[in-house]
Amino acid sequence: MSNHLLLTLLLISLLHTTTSLSQSPAPSPAPSGPPNVIAILKKAGHFTKFIRLLKRTQMDGRIFSLLNSSNHQLTIFAPTDQAFADLPSDTIKSLTYQQRIQLVQFHVLNSLLSYSEFQTVSNPLSTQAGDNSGYHFPLNVTMTENQVNITTGMVNASVSGTVYSDDQLAVYEVDHVLLPLRFYVSPPPAPAPPVKTVEAPAPEVSTDIKASGGVRVIGYGVSGRMWFVAGCVVGVFCFCV
Ligand SMILES: *[C@@H]1O[C@H](CO)[C@@H](O)[C@H](O)[C@H]1NC(C)=O
Ligand SMILES: *[C@@H]1O[C@H](CO)[C@@H](O)[C@H](O)[C@H]1NC(C)=O
Ligand SMILES: *[C@@H]1O[C@H](CO)[C@@H](O)[C@H](O)[C@H]1NC(C)=O
Ligand SMILES: *[C@@H]1O[C@H](CO)[C@@H](O)[C@H](O)[C@H]1NC(C)=O
Repeated sequence: MSNHLLLTLLLISLLHTTTSLSQSPAPSPAPSGPPNVIAILKKAGHFTKFIRLLKRTQMDGRIFSLLNSSNHQLTIFAPTDQAFADLPSDTIKSLTYQQRIQLVQFHVLNSLLSYSEFQTVSNPLSTQAGDNSGYHFPLNVTMTENQVNITTGMVNASVSGTVYSDDQLAVYEVDHVLLPLRFYVSPPPAPAPPVKTVEAPAPEVSTDIKASGGVRVIGYGVSGRMWFVAGCVVGVFCFCV
């Protein structure tokens, strides 16, 4: 009988400890100041390699000061240690310092996306990497049946959990390091910049038009025109003298 009682007590106490263990402590109210990404990732426990990358590229400081400036919102995709371990061993080593910065920036969006908002985002999403347009380093997010997948063109990843979220910052765990396509595939030729027209009168033709029977039309181009103008000036000058 006493054995029974002991067992029951033991069970009850065991039950109690497990429930109190599974109740994660309520997030303490932010003590003023922005959320600290490094502290958030440290607390989660399995982002040591991403933390190291953030520190070595000094992106931790940049993220902190972005968050410290009022109203700046960020979404961060944090790859797990396993995600880094799954990379071929020289993947990170083969990147330049600048590329490592871009790699981190590629995991950061300059906006706050709640989990449900992944459903409605329009692709491609711009990341912090690249120039201000952001679209040199795009990624696509798709959400189906509560599963958020990300593709970079190089890597397909899944969001495997929410590490942190408040009204300024969301940190999601991803199961792969998001490698930008841009690192490995040269971008498609950029659209030609608008040509500066210097009050050009006649259109210049200097193309081989092979399709139309090998007709070769060669314009005399800018330099030709310049010589012509120079010649006129010299001519007028001589005439005057
Ligand atoms: C954060 O912002 C506040 C107010 O703008 C400023 O006083 C403080 O120095 C900043 N902290 C850091 C670490 O930049
Ligand atoms: C999302 O990724 C998971 C894991 O790779 C895969 O099983 C699933 O089919 C993907 N879903 C979509 C919609 O691509
Ligand atoms: C991303 O989405 C855009 C728009 O739907 C599409 O044009 C592009 O090919 C997609 N890229 C990848 C890598 O899936
Ligand atoms: C990513 O997924 C798409 C279709 O969901 C597939 O066509 C592509 O090969 C995958 N890419 C990689 C790198 O696994």
